[in-house]
Amino acid sequence: MTSDRGKTPSESAVETRYLVMPTQANPQGTAFGGAIVSWIDMVAAMAGQRHCGCEVVTAGIDTLIFRHPIRIGDHVVLRAAVNYVSRSSLEVGVQVIREDPYTGGQLVATTAHLTLVALDRNKKPVAVPPLLPQTEEEKSRYEHARLRVQARKERLRTVQDGNEIEYRP
Ligand SMILES: CC(C)(COP(=O)(O)OP(=O)(O)OC[C@H]1O[C@@H](n2cnc3c(N)ncnc32)[C@H](O)[C@@H]1OP(=O)(O)O)[C@@H](O)C(=O)NCCC(=O)NCCS
Repeated sequence: MTSDRGKTPSESAVETRYLVMPTQANPQGTAFGGAIVSWIDMVAAMAGQRHCGCEVVTAGIDTLIFRHPIRIGDHVVLRAAVNYVSRSSLEVGVQVIREDPYTGGQLVATTAHLTLVALDRNKKPVAVPPLLPQTEEEKSRYEHARLRVQARKERLRTVQDGNEIEYRP
């Protein structure tokens, strides 16, 4: 167990900002999907580390929706919060908000849910501290995540039942 004490989602939540540079753009002049995913992975990991107090790895990206393009020069606000914890895994939700640098107008451009796994010093999965949702919104996020996790575990079982793909270079 990484810590006996439970934590609220707001105790580990992360918010950070970027300015989108031309090197992060595709030929259309909007942020490259791979760059957006790397920002998402980074803030999710930070929220996971803050919750667990130990190393975490990304086991999967369960949902990823690019709703609106993000333009070069936009400010990007990244918000990550732990939605739900199981034994050694946790779901982190991430919002990528595009902000107009001059008007401050905001739009949720991308959303994602990631599964992270907490590891001990031997790189083995370890139990994570309980999550203590406080607000109505946190409780609702917890319940929605619980259903997603259930569905994901079911889907993984189906995929893994005799359907492992062999990699032949
Ligand atoms: C994630 C990882 C540690 C899981 O190891 P494992 O030996 O399969 O562990 P277990 O079977 O004991 O499962 C541990 C937890 O991970 C979850 N898990 C395992 N594979 C998963 C997957 N593909 N997607 C989501 N969750 C997964 C399990 O449901 C379990 O959760 P629970 O304890 O809350 O019930 C291992 O697959 C790994 O190291 N993957 C590579 C991670 C990585 O390199 N990420 C990119 C850089 S951060």
